[in-house]
Amino acid sequence: MCGIVGYIGKQNTSKILIDGLRELEYRGYDSAGIAILEDDKLDVFKAVGKIANLEAKIETSAYDTESSNFSIGIGHTRWATHGKPTELNAHPHLGEYSYVVHNGIIENYKELKDELINSGHKFVSQTDTEVIVHLFEYYFNKTNDAKKSFLDTIARLEGAYSILLITKSQPNRIFFMKHGSPLAIAHGNNKDEILFASSDAPLIGLASDVVYLEDGVSGYAIDGNIVFNQEVKWTTLPTSKQFAQKDGFRFFMEKEIYEQHDVVTDSMLGRIKDDEINFEELNESLCSGINEIKICACGTSYHAGLTASYLFERISKVRCSVEIASEFRYKEPLLKDDTLFIVISQSGETADTLEALKMAKKAGLKSIAVCNVDNSSMTRVADATVLTRAGIEKGVASTKAFSTQTVVLWMMALYFAKVNETIAKQELHEQLKVLREVPKSLIVEDKLHEKCRRLSKRYLHGHGFFFIGRDVFYPLALEGALKLKEISYLHAEGYPAGEMKHGPIALADPELFTIALMPQHCHYDKIKSNVEELSARDSTICAISPLEFELSDDFIKTKPTDHYMLEFFEMLVVLQLLSMEISVRLGNDVDMPRNLAKSVTVE
Ligand code: F6R
Repeated sequence: MCGIVGYIGKQNTSKILIDGLRELEYRGYDSAGIAILEDDKLDVFKAVGKIANLEAKIETSAYDTESSNFSIGIGHTRWATHGKPTELNAHPHLGEYSYVVHNGIIENYKELKDELINSGHKFVSQTDTEVIVHLFEYYFNKTNDAKKSFLDTIARLEGAYSILLITKSQPNRIFFMKHGSPLAIAHGNNKDEILFASSDAPLIGLASDVVYLEDGVSGYAIDGNIVFNQEVKWTTLPTSKQFAQKDGFRFFMEKEIYEQHDVVTDSMLGRIKDDEINFEELNESLCSGINEIKICACGTSYHAGLTASYLFERISKVRCSVEIASEFRYKEPLLKDDTLFIVISQSGETADTLEALKMAKKAGLKSIAVCNVDNSSMTRVADATVLTRAGIEKGVASTKAFSTQTVVLWMMALYFAKVNETIAKQELHEQLKVLREVPKSLIVEDKLHEKCRRLSKRYLHGHGFFFIGRDVFYPLALEGALKLKEISYLHAEGYPAGEMKHGPIALADPELFTIALMPQHCHYDKIKSNVEELSARDSTICAISPLEFELSDDFIKTKPTDHYMLEFFEMLVVLQLLSMEISVRLGNDVDMPRNLAKSVTVE
């Protein structure tokens, strides 16, 4: 996690750094900081919390924010891994000879720190990052050579990281290293200007060509030149930036819930034509001769994967397993090359998912990234990419990313079935008909939103929530519980409805809230019995269903449809609205909930 930026040039360095950090704020907002070197003078600003706090601090200082002298600068927005979100732990970290910003984790920092303390170094922060400036000092004291000291320093670091480092001795260059965490470098539009950032978003409009660094690439930038330790590939940056606006909604999350109708429509464009399903991005050889599909993802994307696993088996008739990426990486999985590996990720940068993808590739598996961000790390590693076309998702709690992922994966299940001839024409026709109806199920009706708003006040306390469902409504229950946890900070669990009697039902009492997903067209009688069992034990029941349910304490009626997948999307909207309204009533920051970040680039 964390976002880093760097700049060499004559434009307004503090503004360029701050603007860049604002673009990267989704990567963490525990603290932020910048360091600018101009004529051997160092200015450092740090603030706890969001970029706005840092900006305010700079504005109220005597710093000349309009300066257009040559300068170099680095900046950082933090998601705390080691040490609390305090100013002391905020980046840039300052050493005797160097200043550093870092994204990732230095896994061997404890050993290094002990070693450095033993040789007399004094640490002021609790971060792993601080070892970098001390290591640099250690080597610089021996050699007086900044480049060599930088190389000696990075040779000692283990983990996943990207680093920007500036030095007192050579105040016109930025040293960089990329290993595991993303880093992009670009020549700016102005003469001799160089820019660095964790993603290309801060670079768009300021540069035209970019290098997305591969792991192991290091070097330094000076006088408009970039010296790399190996060959790199330059690519063209998009010329215009996509800006996400709230468009009159209270929160990005709210806007993104309402947008689902449109983005899901976009995700189908060109992929469904008449009675045909097609993916230009996939060639048939990727999907034929496959005996198993393995899906790997984290968080909400994992829930989309779990939903898709039902569809791949049901529709494509291919065995499908789903793994949480952080578990998959270390379980020594048996990988066979007749397995197709699919990663799902909104950002395309999630460290665990990315590493899982690299593992699968190394083992010789074919791979597909189902991803929302073009040009992200996963899209560059996978054999093929299917973009979900959700547009920028700003709310930390994923909404439209999930609906587009689910629809895209469902379409992929149909495509595989077509390629492998496991679906009859009539069945494909029926499925496509239902798919075309999905956007309508995602329209947010005022009445429904109002109902969720009213109900939300009854669910601000209690000792926990169980979201329960069966079949694809089980991953949907997981997703509903995750949404509530993330933004309301209330404890919630998603559970397969049929499993409650194997233990969790012991928790049932009026203060245990059951959010029951009761679709008409997917095992209705079974789930009804499970909910009755909970009701009999006094759990407070909020039923979501198109069918009236007399035992419910609260009831949210969804529109009647004739297919369980349409009910799935109807209920998804209810769950998203309910958690958002509960969060609003609790006075939480809906778009930037505490302790979270939008892109998780540490394992
Ligand atoms: C939840 C949420 C996270 C992400 C997870 C994976 O609302 O957003 O659980 O789904 O961090 O992120 P991506 O999809 O970017 O790999």
